[in-house]
Order: sequence, then C-alpha cells, then structure tokens
Amino acid sequence: MTTTRRTFPRDFTWGSATAAYQIEGGAREGGRGPSIWDTFSRTPGKVDGGDTGDVACDHYHRWQEDVDHISELGLGAYRLSISWPRVQPGGSGELNADGVAFYRELLAELHRAGVSPVVTLYHWDLPQELEDAGGWANRETAFRFAEYARLMARELGEAVTVWTTLNEPWCSAYLGYASGVHAPGRTEPAAALAAVHHLNLAHGLAVQAIREELPGAKVSITLNLHVVRPEDPSSEADLDAVRQVDAVGNRVFLGPLLEGRYPEDLLADTAAITDWAFVHDGDLGHIQQPLDVLGVNYYSTTLVRRYAGTGERVLADSHKSTTHSPWVGCEDVEFLPLPGPYTAMGWNIDPDGLVELLTSLGTTYPDVPMMVTENGAAFDDVVSGDGRVHDVERVEYLHDHVHAVARARELGADVRGYFAWSLMDNFEWSYGYSKRFGIIRVNYDTLERCWKDSAFWYRAVVQTGQIPD
Ligand code: NOJ
Repeated sequence: MTTTRRTFPRDFTWGSATAAYQIEGGAREGGRGPSIWDTFSRTPGKVDGGDTGDVACDHYHRWQEDVDHISELGLGAYRLSISWPRVQPGGSGELNADGVAFYRELLAELHRAGVSPVVTLYHWDLPQELEDAGGWANRETAFRFAEYARLMARELGEAVTVWTTLNEPWCSAYLGYASGVHAPGRTEPAAALAAVHHLNLAHGLAVQAIREELPGAKVSITLNLHVVRPEDPSSEADLDAVRQVDAVGNRVFLGPLLEGRYPEDLLADTAAITDWAFVHDGDLGHIQQPLDVLGVNYYSTTLVRRYAGTGERVLADSHKSTTHSPWVGCEDVEFLPLPGPYTAMGWNIDPDGLVELLTSLGTTYPDVPMMVTENGAAFDDVVSGDGRVHDVERVEYLHDHVHAVARARELGADVRGYFAWSLMDNFEWSYGYSKRFGIIRVNYDTLERCWKDSAFWYRAVVQTGQIPD
C-alpha cells in the first residue's frame, strides 16, 4: 500500500473567506438598517466607479448556491461576517428577526454541508446610527458592540465554530478615521487613536460577553499585521522608522490584547496627538482576554526609511492614502515602493514575509495558536475563449503562500488553518468591483459564479493536504 505524504495534517483547517458588505447586497431588504459603508459608497467620489454594495454578489438571495460551491470545493470551514445593521439595524435595542433568521439558515446549511462557520462580528459595516453618535471615536460604541456580540452568541450559539470579534481593526481605525479612504471617511488622527482603543475595548468586552453566554465558545480576533522592513538595515534612523510603524500598526493591538498594556514608545510617539486619556482605569484588564486563536491576514510587506525632509514624502504603502496618512504619529517615516512582482492592487508579492510574520508571532506568543484568516490576490482576470479564467498568477500566488504556511509550521509556528481571500469576486471597498480577489468569478451582469483555475487548484490542496507543483 502506498501512503501519500501530507504536507499538512488532516486536522488542518482549509477555508475561504468573505464579508457581509462585500458580497450580500440586499442592502435595503429584510429590515436591514444603513451602515457607514452604505453612506460612504453612496457619496460621490469615495468609491471607484461609484460602486456600492447595494447588490454586490447578491449572496443575500444566492446563499444556497454559494454554500454548494463551498461544499464542492471541499472546504472544512467558511469565514463569513454578520452584518450588524442587518441583525440590529440601529446598533442598539431590539434585534431584527428577519436578519437573524438569514444567518441562522445560512449557518444551518453550512453545517449540513459539513462546513464549520468562522464568524466575524465586525467586518467594517458599523450601523450608521452609531457613527452619527461618534462612531468608534465614541467609547459608547464598544459597549454597544459587546451587547450585539452577546445577543449573537445567544441567538446563534452552537452554530458558530469560531467567533471572531473584529476584522482588521487597523483598517477600521486608521483608514476610517485618519486617512479617510474607508468609511466613515474622517481625517482626524486623534479620533483614529481613540478608535483604536475603543475597538480594542470592544473586542475585550465582546469576548467576555460571548463566554458568559457560551462558556465553551472559541474566540478570536483577526489582525492585519505589518511586516515592516528598513531600507537600510544598518541605519539607526531607518530601524527607528520600522519601530514606529510597528508600534502604531502592530503593537498597538498586540500589546493590549495579549500583554495587557500599550507600548511606552507608542505613547511617546503619539504624545503630540493625544494624551490617551480615553484609556480608563480597568480597560486593559477587559481588553486582555485569552484567545483560542489569533487570526492573521496577510497580503504583502512594507518598506520604510526615515524621511530626510526633502522631496515628496510618500505617506502610505497602500490603500490610496495620499493626502492624509493612516500612519498616525509616524511623521518622519517614508513609505517606499517595493520591488515587484505586484498584484493588481499594486501590492508587492512576498511570501517570505508570511513566514517571517508567523514565526515571529509564534516566538513572541508561543501559547496562541494562529490561523491565516485571509490571504489572496487581485489580478486582472481575463475570460478566455473557452469561457474559463486561467488565473495562472493567482494560482502561483496562492501556491507560494500556502507553501509559506508550511514552512512556518516546519519552523515551529502553531498555524492551524488557512483561508483563501476570497471565495468569490466582490466589492473591494474603495476600489468597488474593479478588483477581483475571488477564486470564483462573479459576472456582475448576470451574477453567475464560475470557478477560476485557482478554485480547482485550491480544491486539490484541500483534498490532499499537499501543495501541487
Ligand atoms: C482585507 C479585508 O479584510 C478584506 O475585506 C479585503 O477585501 C481584503 N483585505 C483585500 O483587500
């Protein structure tokens, strides 16, 4: 008998991910309230092509078909998000029964298909009413979020395999409140730092609420951590630029969440912007909750140097932030173009960065298992004469990054799962539908789904636990 050598163990979780606003549509249906992304996307000039999530992939009506695709891919898990304004339209008070029913049925269907749901409670679609009251810059929002989390735990309970509180709070805080390229589009550095803290607090309060309702619940948070490299590794100034970006991009979350403190150097770097008085006594105790798993989203790397004070300073490495920097407090840091190859987002492709990130997290936090909750790439897909999308570059990207996960595991990083972003093409935030990340193509005229070559490739990985050449 021949045995096949598996690169990944049988219990490794293979999944794919989406988010409510990016795929659902049905923006005015089933009692859903407006979110900050409805408002933002309907504001002229904010999203390429004037695109909105009003229809998106119409997952709100086609979810059964989408579960069939998930099942045919052989995925063990599916990462989705709940639209807060669909289940609690104004962000407080009574739940919307239709909205809750939508997710209850979706989760039940996933279970019937043998797929474990990994559910994110907040993937950026804040109920507009809460933004009108100050949004994430308002401490009260953290308490509203914890209440929403409690209600979801009560309503959906055992149907959820892993609860993820927040997706990429870096983006919510800094792109939403500092550079303004994401909803709600504010450009107020002090508000962005307050938002960071209130997001951290929201996470901690929500974890406690979920565990009170469901003592055995598995909880997580998903972060987009930055792999930051200096232009000149022998330059003290460039290394200090790395330190600053690491503080405001990574340690501002990892510190409170996993160590119960904000880094001293971060407080010093941002002292001219805020005195951090929004951190109240006892908050850090709430924020630092044991995590069952840490979600890591990874796409590319960042290259920085100390700004010499002459010439145009590049304010950010991605996400269209050209007039206001998302990098609050990093006034003397310059973000440099990286060597290619690039994806259609202009992001550099660097699988080694993923190995570096996972191994360094594994070393710093050896007791916290990890999952790569997002990884993938947008490319300018072409539908060939045979009606198929032969997305060679995406297959290569996924291949190299799955391989990177295998390498990180060999080096001792406790990585338990990998989720391809995304199950299907969808609304790519300020880029609208112009960027396609899916392994399944969505025809936005007919809303038909069609597997790209990457979907077939990924199915083979999922089935065998091996990486085809
Ligand atoms: C991170 C976000 O979580 C997701 O919503 C987005 O589409 C991808 N990255 C690609 O930019």
